[in-house]
Amino acid sequence: MSELRLEELAASNIVAANTLSLKPGQEQFVAPVSHSIAEAYVNPATAWPRVVLEDDEVVGFIMGNFDPDAQEDEFKACIWRINVAADAQGHGVGRFAVLAVADEARRRGLERITVIYEPGEAGPAAFFEKIGFTPYGETPYGETVAALEL
Ligand SMILES: CC(C)(COP(=O)(O)OP(=O)(O)OC[C@H]1O[C@@H](n2cnc3c(N)ncnc32)[C@H](O)[C@@H]1OP(=O)(O)O)[C@@H](O)C(=O)NCCC(=O)NCCS
Repeated sequence: MSELRLEELAASNIVAANTLSLKPGQEQFVAPVSHSIAEAYVNPATAWPRVVLEDDEVVGFIMGNFDPDAQEDEFKACIWRINVAADAQGHGVGRFAVLAVADEARRRGLERITVIYEPGEAGPAAFFEKIGFTPYGETPYGETVAALEL
């Protein structure tokens, strides 16, 4: 059994996080990881960027955002992005990362987390629904808004 663990985004893992591969066709659903790293840098009070290591190799990146002052509910505890390396997809890395954000939200006394994603065949909709998210809305840009009750 391989071991999964979480680390804060740091100098030691930032290059690996920034060069995570995607499967062909997935690029259209996510901005490059570097965008999230920049967002984390300018939002240090709310951003929660973490890498997932599998047997000491960086195989995933997730960024949560916890903003109790956000006016809109879906921005109070939100997954801003998740990426799992192409050859590490399909064996629980993504679930592990999402549940880590859920645990952190619970620790902060929150009752749900949300995610906003692009709909589409090769997109992450089925993944989020498998984990237990329920779609409940749409942004003005046609993205799906979904929530996981904790
Ligand atoms: C979406 C993504 C994070 C999933 O990560 P992953 O490590 O492959 O997912 P897991 O192995 O943890 O899968 C958890 C469950 O979801 C299911 N699942 C994952 N991707 C799926 C897909 N595309 N279609 C259907 N089911 C899927 C798995 O089969 C698994 O089900 P199980 O519990 O019955 O075994 C990964 O595919 C990815 O990085 N995609 C590209 C980036 C992206 O779209 N990010 C989201 C933008 S916010």
